[in-house]
Amino acid sequence: MTKLVAEGVVSRIGDRQILTDVSLYAGAGELVALTGPSGSGKTTMINLAGGLLPPDEGMATLDGEPTWLGTGDPRPDVALILQSYGLVSILTAAENVSIALRARGVRPREADAAAAAALDRVGITDLGERLVQELSGGQAQRVACARALVVDCTLLLADEPTSELDEYNRDRVIGELRHEAERGAAVMIATHDVEVAAQCDREYRLDDGALVPSLVR
Ligand SMILES: Nc1ncnc2c1ncn2[C@@H]1O[C@H](COP(=O)(O)OP(=O)(O)OP(=O)(O)O)[C@@H](O)[C@H]1O
Ligand SMILES: [Mg+2]
Repeated sequence: MTKLVAEGVVSRIGDRQILTDVSLYAGAGELVALTGPSGSGKTTMINLAGGLLPPDEGMATLDGEPTWLGTGDPRPDVALILQSYGLVSILTAAENVSIALRARGVRPREADAAAAAALDRVGITDLGERLVQELSGGQAQRVACARALVVDCTLLLADEPTSELDEYNRDRVIGELRHEAERGAAVMIATHDVEVAAQCDREYRLDDGALVPSLVR
């Protein structure tokens, strides 16, 4: 069964401890919220869980295997929605989504069809041919969501995926993340939006890099 497990994770930058002994898990079929104030370590934890950063102590594993591969690239079965999106601004919305599949060896025609379907899931069917640099913040955010939805991942890590969206589109995106969980993925969402956290099955709260035990549900 798909399970993200972080055990005793410590992350330091220089002398500063960014994460202190964080242990958490997310199982297949679950939507798990990671909440906490700005600067509490949510993005650091998401990046570490996704294999973009190595832990200084402890370990993050998916199905028993470390998510950190030593390269800074995530495993192919892990999809991330980055807080900063990480889109290629001079490519179109559809190209940004399609390359996620092409990089995983999917044939271009198949990848393009799946990209169109993923853009449709987040309500931007008509923006596929638009360059990302010509999109609004909320439109670009939904391209980043589509790029994660398209890959059929086993672990989906979403860092503030609805921060630029209106209520309707926020609920639509959370609904699609729920759909990924129902398909069998483990989904973790870093968010400061209490309504998004309320839609999740469980919640971990970070404060200054440490979990707040009384606020774990
Ligand atoms: N590359 C870096 N160099 C130095 N400090 C960093 C770096 N990245 C993060 N930090 C620090 O680590 C702490 C946690 O940052 P992080 O981005 O994980 O917080 P966050 O909970 O995601 O915040 P936000 O809600 O604002 O996105 C902050 O104090 C931040 O200043
Ligand atoms: Mg953050």
